[in-house]
Amino acid sequence: MAATLSEGGCRRLLQLLLLSRRPGLPLRRAAAGLKLQHSRGTHSRSSTWDVHAFMPESAAFPQVRTYQELLEISVRDPDTFWGVLARERLRWVKPYQTVQDCDFSRGRVNWFLGGQLNVAVNCLDQHVHQSPDRVALIWERDEPGTEVKITYRELLETTCRLANTLKKYGVQKGDRVAIYMSVAPLAVAAMLACARIGAVHTVVFAGFSAISLVGRVNDAKCKAIITQNQGVRAGHIIELKRIVDEAVKSCPTVKHVFVAHRTDNKVHMGNLDIPLEKEMDKADPACDPEIMNSEDMLFMLYTSGSTGQPKGIVHTQAGYLLYASLTHKYVFDYKQGDIFCCVADIGWITGHSYVVYGPLCNGATTVLFESTPLYPNPGRYWEMVQRLKINQFYGAPTAIRLLLKYEDSWVKKYDRSTLRTLGSVGEPINHEAWEWFYKVVGENRCTLVDTWWQTETGGICISPRPSEEGAEIIPAMAMRPFFGIKPVILTEEGRLIQGEVSGALCIAQPWPGMARTIYGDHQRFIDTYFKTFPGYYFTGDGAHRSQEGYYQITGRMDDVINISGHRLGTAEIEDALAEHPDVPETAVIGFPHEIKGEAAFAFIVLKEDTAHTEPVIQEQLKSIVASKIAKYAVPDHVLVVKRLPKTRSGKIMRRLLRKVITDESGDLGDTTTLDDPTVVTEILEAFQKYKQDKSAM
Ligand code: PRX
Repeated sequence: MAATLSEGGCRRLLQLLLLSRRPGLPLRRAAAGLKLQHSRGTHSRSSTWDVHAFMPESAAFPQVRTYQELLEISVRDPDTFWGVLARERLRWVKPYQTVQDCDFSRGRVNWFLGGQLNVAVNCLDQHVHQSPDRVALIWERDEPGTEVKITYRELLETTCRLANTLKKYGVQKGDRVAIYMSVAPLAVAAMLACARIGAVHTVVFAGFSAISLVGRVNDAKCKAIITQNQGVRAGHIIELKRIVDEAVKSCPTVKHVFVAHRTDNKVHMGNLDIPLEKEMDKADPACDPEIMNSEDMLFMLYTSGSTGQPKGIVHTQAGYLLYASLTHKYVFDYKQGDIFCCVADIGWITGHSYVVYGPLCNGATTVLFESTPLYPNPGRYWEMVQRLKINQFYGAPTAIRLLLKYEDSWVKKYDRSTLRTLGSVGEPINHEAWEWFYKVVGENRCTLVDTWWQTETGGICISPRPSEEGAEIIPAMAMRPFFGIKPVILTEEGRLIQGEVSGALCIAQPWPGMARTIYGDHQRFIDTYFKTFPGYYFTGDGAHRSQEGYYQITGRMDDVINISGHRLGTAEIEDALAEHPDVPETAVIGFPHEIKGEAAFAFIVLKEDTAHTEPVIQEQLKSIVASKIAKYAVPDHVLVVKRLPKTRSGKIMRRLLRKVITDESGDLGDTTTLDDPTVVTEILEAFQKYKQDKSAM
């Protein structure tokens, strides 16, 4: 496919490219042959190692000699550090004037004010200009061995056609567009098409139910939905269009549904529906990029909190893109020509930052993984690594825990010699999984990074790399802050504590990738992240800092649980369970699960006069959760109790329930505030009986 640019498009593109670099800033290019040795357990330093070769942009700080000094300047003088990085790494239409204007007390976060750019130009046009035939995407389809490669030129053309189609149907700058698709090039093009015309995308994970989709589409007041006729996963068909049909009945703001075709199967097309590829064939293959201000919205992504409905986390243009691309390059040691593979779904932040925006901004070849780790067999990932010659592999601990149960031969029979960096994300990685990933998959020679971050942080904040050359990596530990990140630990009372300690993990100063607001509810943004510990961004996680200053994440401090790396509020599950007319009260607790990391355990109270048996209600409740949220949210266990343990003021004592199910009932702690202490015996008895009935527990 040849991309032809209109005259206006050519002019605009030229203008964008010409304005991209600030002239006159000397850059020392990386010395040939210099390579960071990413070995584990060593502190050796090579005399040839050069921090300016490691990060060419750091030539702007000639006084900086070592990695440590570079890290220090990024924290001590963020305006200079981020100012240089933004100027050098992004292509601007108009340079920014102010590096940052932030005030945590008001939840005000602004970066690169006065600057103008287009994210799609940064991710596509600049690379098309330099190397149009470089492969941008490798679509690893569900059926192994049927991958599709798409060059930067092709992706730009596809993006432009899709952008023009959206425009033709009235989607304009600032409009919100929901994307409900499985991992596919058209899904990436849809995200970039929105970015190109200044529309705001909200990708909804294709495993979410129709009701979840409605909630997100209505909260965002989306004008359009882009979907597929069907999805394909592990050989199964997912009826995406049918779910959208059900959802749009309750989405008054949606004017059009664009339907792409993943399978040849016909689906019902109604009044709102537009066949996407057919329209794209007719559309102009060039589309002038909208000029966006640094702080215009790029996308919103819904994520769970401890209370209420999922919140639409807002990310903006320049700061997010810079942070995603910089972390992609330095955490994973990405070098031009590498094949980068993050197996996350684009419906999560990991997919946004490390399947799409980070790699594409860096001109990388990024793999889109449509399948699952076990399809068609447990060798899927590693056969793909061999076939596609993958250099960086980034995945979730839950998949690693699942795979290590199988014979190592599923890994060893495939050539993994191209792999250099392995990454883990989304939940704590246990030692067994870390060791297996490092030794069996990485052959004791790849760098393995446990990366900590969140939807709200936009990109990786704590990770063993980057670091000084050869610095040690401690298994199952995120360890070191990224450039510009200043983690701190506070006591519950809000006291900042130094040295080796455990407490609430906060970040003391703004960084460009952080979220800007919660869509439509800035007060909730302030209350959630900046109120608990005034002056700090509160992550919601606890952490331990070692004597050496390394960070280990200890888990959420709120009622958010993490099922197979998917974040979920227990309150959301409780809200869904409460839909059942015979269930007046519920309490959902997260408990450790061998594969999923955590799973949900629901305690429920039944109405006395219910006409159904307990097993019937338990099944009904599970299907309510699947249809209100998603299948992965369904509690593994639903236990009927007569009452829930409550304080005299009526608050459910979840701590007590957690102790019951984790077999710590010998040490229930202070129960004096319980309204009626006999409830404990009642619940323990019910739990023991349940365990006996389900001998599997
Ligand atoms: O509790 C932390 C956990 O996942 C939460 C963020 O979830 P989400 O916004 O969905 O983003 C996931 C992908 C970035 C965090 O608050 N988490 C994430 N990474 C790690 C982790 N917990 C332990 N170790 C990690 N490496």
